[in-house]
Amino acid sequence: MENYTYKNPTKIIFGKDQLNTLKAEIPAYGKRVLLVYGGGSIKKNGLYDKVMAVLKEIDAEVYELAGVEPNPRITTVRKGAELCKEHQIDFVLAVGGGSVIDATKGIVAGAKYEGDAWDLVIKKAPVKEALPFGTVLTIAATGSEANSGSVITNWETKEKYGWGSPLVFPKFSILDPENTFSLPKNQTVYGMVDMMSHVFETYFHQETHAPLQDRFCESLLVTVMETAPKLLENLEDYEHRATILYAGNVALNGSLGVGYLGDWATHNIEHAVSAVYDIPHAGGLAILFPNWMKHVLHENVERFKQVAVRVFQVDPEGKSSEEVALEGIERLRSFWSSLGAPTRLADYDIDDSQIEVIADKAMSNGEFGRFKVLNREDVLAILRASL
Ligand code: NZQ
Ligand code: ZN
Repeated sequence: MENYTYKNPTKIIFGKDQLNTLKAEIPAYGKRVLLVYGGGSIKKNGLYDKVMAVLKEIDAEVYELAGVEPNPRITTVRKGAELCKEHQIDFVLAVGGGSVIDATKGIVAGAKYEGDAWDLVIKKAPVKEALPFGTVLTIAATGSEANSGSVITNWETKEKYGWGSPLVFPKFSILDPENTFSLPKNQTVYGMVDMMSHVFETYFHQETHAPLQDRFCESLLVTVMETAPKLLENLEDYEHRATILYAGNVALNGSLGVGYLGDWATHNIEHAVSAVYDIPHAGGLAILFPNWMKHVLHENVERFKQVAVRVFQVDPEGKSSEEVALEGIERLRSFWSSLGAPTRLADYDIDDSQIEVIADKAMSNGEFGRFKVLNREDVLAILRASL
């Protein structure tokens, strides 16, 4: 195991009826609050009214930024940063999913930066300061509610990049499973695919002695797989929503990956695909991940065999390690497609016409991945297998 330093400063407030805690959390930062949300789901399910009622009780002066897109755009981040500067905002409250939270991270850093917020995303300028912000999470997926990462799209240049800073950890995040009840089936599935992918990105490393981290990862995967079909039977089952909400949080709050560095190549390729085609992040992951796995299998077949046996319950008796590993990958593909996740880029009407462009975008910062370092030919091979 490598040396590591781990600190996650986000306070998690988990469970039913926790919205009232905003009354204790926000006043410490001030009265001028920017409320950031998405395309309207919180208005339909009543969460907007509930949040506004609490903000009214603490006499907050509320400004709003509505309409954050899934795959949030730099144009929206710029608008939010401007609002913060114009109204001397003290605190930003993000109510929504990963997209709303990621946009908010750009907004709070952009609000304290004199230039264009895109400079922070492309790392042309460092984040030196940020406004404080908190979140009310409405979808179990990205883990953005308790990490310091953010992914922003520049639709004009068709670029989508991850960036981060310890200064953009949320101060707190309210995780009430009931706030995820209205999430439709397809988004619920995407969320579960995303969190499982975060575990795989963490799990596939070449450090051979991480027995406890391995077991944490494996138990998270098994738990999501056991819970997923039950949750899809009843999208308003509190206990299953709670399990998935907790799993999504743990999958990317930084705790699983201590002591070694994961891979993250599939995320990089997916971000390039959704920069060009604006498809749901986890839809892209569901298509790409099994193909990445097959492409890199020979870097460490035993690691793939381990996950096949422990998570996908492949019987290794009489089979080579490679056969066991491949069977595990097929079981992952079947599991995701049994939930309704896409299996091919063609499911989003994506053909081979732009794959060179996607590969170039994925390679924009050079070769990447740690389990196996991928070059342009590797990326093209994974994309072709995904058509
Ligand atoms: O916009 P609204 O109307 O709110 O609708 C959203 C959106 O259409 C809807 N939704 C969310 N909560 C709902 C709901 N609908 C009904 N009821 C609810 N309770 O769901 C749709 C998807 O929302 P979004 O926030 O886009 O989903 P997600 O949380 O999966 O976020 C995806 C974004 O996060 C980035 C992705 O690349 C993508 O841009 N990622 C961020 C990461 C991070 N910061 O750590 C890591 C991830 O790997 C990922 O890359
Ligand atoms: Zn993801």
